[in-house]
Amino acid sequence: MSNTQIKLYGPFTQLVSLKNLPLKGSLKDDQIDIIKNAGIIAHGSKIQAVGDFEKLNAQLKGKNFETEYIQEPTVVVPGFIDAHTHICFDGNRAADFASRNAGISYQEIAAAGGGIWSSVTHTRNATKKRLVSLMNKRIQQLILNGITTVEIKSGYGLSVEHEIKMLQAIAEVKKKSKINVVPTCLAAHIKPKDFDGDERAYLDMILNDLVPLVKNEDLTNRFDIFTEENAFSIEGSKYYLKALKQKGFDLTIHGDQFSVGGSKVAVECGALSVDHLEVSGKTEIEMIAKSETIAMALPGASLGIGCDFTPARKLLDAGASVAIASDWNPGSAPMGYLLNQASILATFEKLSTAEVLAGMTFRAAKALNYTDRGVLEKGKRADFQMFPTQDYRDILYHQGSLRPSGVWCGGKRIR
Ligand code: NIG
Ligand code: FE
Repeated sequence: MSNTQIKLYGPFTQLVSLKNLPLKGSLKDDQIDIIKNAGIIAHGSKIQAVGDFEKLNAQLKGKNFETEYIQEPTVVVPGFIDAHTHICFDGNRAADFASRNAGISYQEIAAAGGGIWSSVTHTRNATKKRLVSLMNKRIQQLILNGITTVEIKSGYGLSVEHEIKMLQAIAEVKKKSKINVVPTCLAAHIKPKDFDGDERAYLDMILNDLVPLVKNEDLTNRFDIFTEENAFSIEGSKYYLKALKQKGFDLTIHGDQFSVGGSKVAVECGALSVDHLEVSGKTEIEMIAKSETIAMALPGASLGIGCDFTPARKLLDAGASVAIASDWNPGSAPMGYLLNQASILATFEKLSTAEVLAGMTFRAAKALNYTDRGVLEKGKRADFQMFPTQDYRDILYHQGSLRPSGVWCGGKRIR
């Protein structure tokens, strides 16, 4: 690599590196490393150094480098990682929202043929091109909000043809996107109404017919399942995930959203993360805390459905690693603003700024099996964002209305 790719960014009033923080357990704000009048040196897409701006500038003397000067007071933090979304969808579920507010539950709506199935109908009717364009618009919103890595699930296709269509659309977005895109196959979202056979037959169909195509086209190395009373049983989920694990895939689960069970499956199967956990109790919390599985809080789903938040405080105090994601989807979490949701979760669950920032950065990275991002230090990806303030605590205090004034992904400015 030539010297011309060396860039110095700064000075930033405060740099919150999030380095040297533990992957698991509670965090206090005084554990956060803050560098004043800081700079970042990137070599291509990687960080080469982080430190005092003037010292870094002096260090580069005589070298061929560019400086991106920051004139205004700003706080720089790692780019956020939204590690759980369903932004590959068509259609709108405003009718479900109105019905829920009129007293009909999420599960009752699903049982009556609405819910996820209604998004499947709309998404099946959409062309790949339309799904790509819808995702690109949503990614534009993510960039404005400092997201530099986004996970996107399939799961509104629910047939070989339409799951492949969704995964190919996600692959196309990934190829051209300014941010990092991580695809996940959620063909086991619900058993589709038009499938002729029982749960096991449907899961076998995915394993035998869909998985080889996914592998062949290298569409994803991650699989998800919705373990829930009206979705997939605990036994079925274990069967499915163990088969996928044997094939070498990374696993994640939607679990303990309305009834407990999914978290145990996740831990037993060595899933990277178990997401939702709104109804997890003491037993589940202690079990997750002892494991390596990340607990993913999805406050957007609690806000959309009107139910309890994931017990993030209890999980952290028990020693679990808690990540926070938006769950952006047309049904339970249509908002899509991670920072607003995480700030609200912080208020209700009494989380420190350190815990919330960790949950949207290096802890979320781990849920995606990445160790190369989410922290600002030498060797990591140059994915970062700056907020127009002088105090990092302002970021959560404004509950998402203070937005980043600059966002960089792999060292390139994208906002
Ligand atoms: O994470 N819980 C299951 N799946 C999604 C909701 C999908 C939908 O309602 O369309 C979730 O909340
Ligand atoms: Fe979800």
